[in-house]
Order: sequence, then C-alpha cells, then structure tokens
Amino acid sequence: MGYQVNVQPSGRQFEVLDGETVLEAGIRQGIGLPYGCKDGACGSCKCKKISGTVEHKPYQPSALSEEEAAQDYVLTCRAVPGSDLVLESRQVTSEGAYPVRKMPVRVMGMEQLSSDVMRLTLQLPANAPMQFHAGQYLDFLLKDGQRRSYSMATAPHQVDPNKPQVELHVRHMPGGKFTDHVFSAMKEKEILRVEGPFGSFFLRDNSAGPVLFLASGTGFAPIKAILEHMTHTGNQRKVTLYWGARRPVDIYMHQWMLDYCEAHPNVTYVPVVSDALPEDVWEGKRGLALDQMLQDHPDMSDYQLYACGVPAMVHAAHAQCVGKAGLSEDAFFADAFTSLKDKTAPEATA
Ligand SMILES: Cc1cc2nc3c(=O)[nH]c(=O)nc-3n(C[C@H](O)[C@H](O)[C@H](O)COP(=O)(O)OP(=O)(O)OC[C@H]3O[C@@H](n4cnc5c(N)ncnc54)[C@H](O)[C@@H]3O)c2cc1C
Ligand code: FES
Repeated sequence: MGYQVNVQPSGRQFEVLDGETVLEAGIRQGIGLPYGCKDGACGSCKCKKISGTVEHKPYQPSALSEEEAAQDYVLTCRAVPGSDLVLESRQVTSEGAYPVRKMPVRVMGMEQLSSDVMRLTLQLPANAPMQFHAGQYLDFLLKDGQRRSYSMATAPHQVDPNKPQVELHVRHMPGGKFTDHVFSAMKEKEILRVEGPFGSFFLRDNSAGPVLFLASGTGFAPIKAILEHMTHTGNQRKVTLYWGARRPVDIYMHQWMLDYCEAHPNVTYVPVVSDALPEDVWEGKRGLALDQMLQDHPDMSDYQLYACGVPAMVHAAHAQCVGKAGLSEDAFFADAFTSLKDKTAPEATA
C-alpha cells in the first residue's frame, strides 16, 4: 500500500509506493518536482513539509541542515513517506515532465576542449528520440550499477530526428571511475547505457524578467543549451552570464561565447578567472564569478538566477543571493555537479 502526496500550491497529487522516495515516485509519474543529484548531496529537491511524516535515507548535512530539518524541510530524493503528505514546492507546475527512459548510446565524437575537458558526442537511438528540456541531464549507467550524471550541452531543436546526437562536456576527475575511463581508454564507437532526461535546470518561461547565469567550469554545458534554446525560440530576455574558472584556458568555449554575444545584443558575458598564472594573458575580471556577480547586481529582486557547477559555488550562490541580495527562493535554480566524493562524505545524516 502506498501514500498520497499533494504538492501545494499547484495541487498536483501522486502516489508513492511502499519504500519509494517521494522523488522516485514523482519522476516515475512525470511530476515536475525540482531536483538535481537524486542522492541527498545537492539540496535542490528541498521543500517544506506542511503535513505528514517521512523517514529520511542518509543524506549530506550540506544538503539539509539540522535547523532546516527542525523546520520541517525535507529532501524529496531521500524522504520515504510514513503517511499521506502535503508538501510545498512553488517550482512545481501543472505541466507533466518528459518520460524518462533507458537507452543505449554510441560515442560518435571525442574532442578535447581543454587539458581536462572532453566534448563527447553521443548518438541516441533514432526509433524513439528522447524529448528533453534544454539544460537537463542524463545518467550513464555503469556496469556495477553506479551512475554518473552529465548535462546535455545541446538544445532539443538541434537534435536531428534521423540522426539524434547530443553533446556533453566532461571534466576529468583524477581517480574517478568514469572520467578516468573517458580520458584514457574510451574510443569512438564505444556503446554505453544512459537514462534520461533528468533534472529541473531549465529556463522557466513564467517571467519575462532578466536572467543571471552563473557557471563554474563545465557548469557552462547546460547553460550553452539554454542559450541556444533561447535563440531558437526568439527569447529576448536580458541575460548576463558569469563564467568562472581557475585559469583562462579553463574557460574552454570563450571564443564561442564572444561570437554568441556579438550576434545577441541582449546577452552580456563576464568571464572571471581566479588563479591565473604569470604566463596567462588575461585582461578580463579576476576573482570569483559569484563575487563579481554580486558586485554588479547587489539587488536581484527582479531576476531569475541559474547556477551550475561545483557544489561549493552553488551553495554559496544560494546563501548569498537568496534573501540577502533580494533574490526570491522561487527564482533560484541550480545543478550542483556533485560526485562520489560529495556523496560519500563521512558525516552523512540518517
Ligand atoms: C545533475 C548533475 C549534472 C552533472 N553534469 C556534469 C557535466 O555536464 N559535466 C561534468 O564534467 N560533470 C558533471 N557532473 C559531475 C559528474 O557527474 C561527477 O563529477 C562524476 O561523479 C564524475 O565521475 P567519476 O566516476 O569520474 O568520478 P567519481 O568516481 O564520482 O569520483 C570523483 C572524485 O572523487 C574522488 N573520490 C571518489 N570516491 C571518494 C571517496 N569515497 N572519498 C573521497 N574522494 C573520493 C575520486 O578520486 C575523484 O577525484 C554532474 C553532476 C550532477 C549531479
Ligand atoms: S536532488 Fe535531493 S539532494 Fe540533490
């Protein structure tokens, strides 16, 4: 026997089967809940429990603090209901989410964009093309049952139905099971299994207001897809992208962004470098991209902010922009690029 979950204020209702987490049930039934890692590490799925009881599976305290738990906030990716539930999540709409499917993919292209970033081009099955929002991600299903998440840098309209391909930007994590393979043994034509689309990092059309994008490193990948989607749909919202990296070479599509801005006067691009070496030629901003964004936008009350990349930056962006800089909680969207390291930190909370 399962439990009913009602999400306010949309009024969306769905059933959670015995032992399932709220998020697993939501994804299974196409309810557009907000989430990122699905693993209790990023905090993107956090929402307020209005009534009912849940048991949390282990999660990282950085995703849900003791104080938040005491105030009845829950992580839907870890929360197993113990009764019917009413949750509050203003980002949930009445729209259905795209179906999630498992499928084989073939590696069609491998291009090194910098010393530690690889552009992987994947061929998807042509018989039933995957539908997705620009900015969503897919999971590689590894042979041992583990998963690795990667954002699609391609917008849906760019996918040719006769030869469907998507582009990913994969950063090498030395010692990492998947990316060590990508940067050493992987060859074109290799077949992998993926599941998708996942995630809630896509542009919300409920506002015509200005948009801030904040990316670190390969956090640029889904933002590229969203920018291309905006071009395709003729979306003229004012956009500013802050792209932070350690060195200029790590801003691996700098020229692409300069060309994009040239063609799109509504888009401003601010690359920011934190650890340039003496030999680096760099006339742009220095420091942290988040600090630069806050300096340029002390009042974000009219904005939506989409932050993507290393978890520390995403968490800092939430802490420093929501409330403090006037940004509304409902206007903050994020994909924190958590890895096994973030998910296995020893202080997981039960
Ligand atoms: C929604 C989402 C979207 C993402 N999109 C992208 C993207 O577009 N591009 C991108 O580059 N990345 C992306 N990521 C991040 C990417 O999924 C991770 O970096 C991924 O885990 C790397 O896989 P791996 O097997 O190479 O490394 P992992 O096995 O995950 O290991 C990562 C690092 O942690 C170390 N490590 C492993 N286990 C432990 C441990 N127990 N204790 C301490 N250290 C440990 C490893 O040595 C390695 O350096 C995304 C993540 C999420 C959640
Ligand atoms: S999706 Fe729940 S903590 Fe990341």
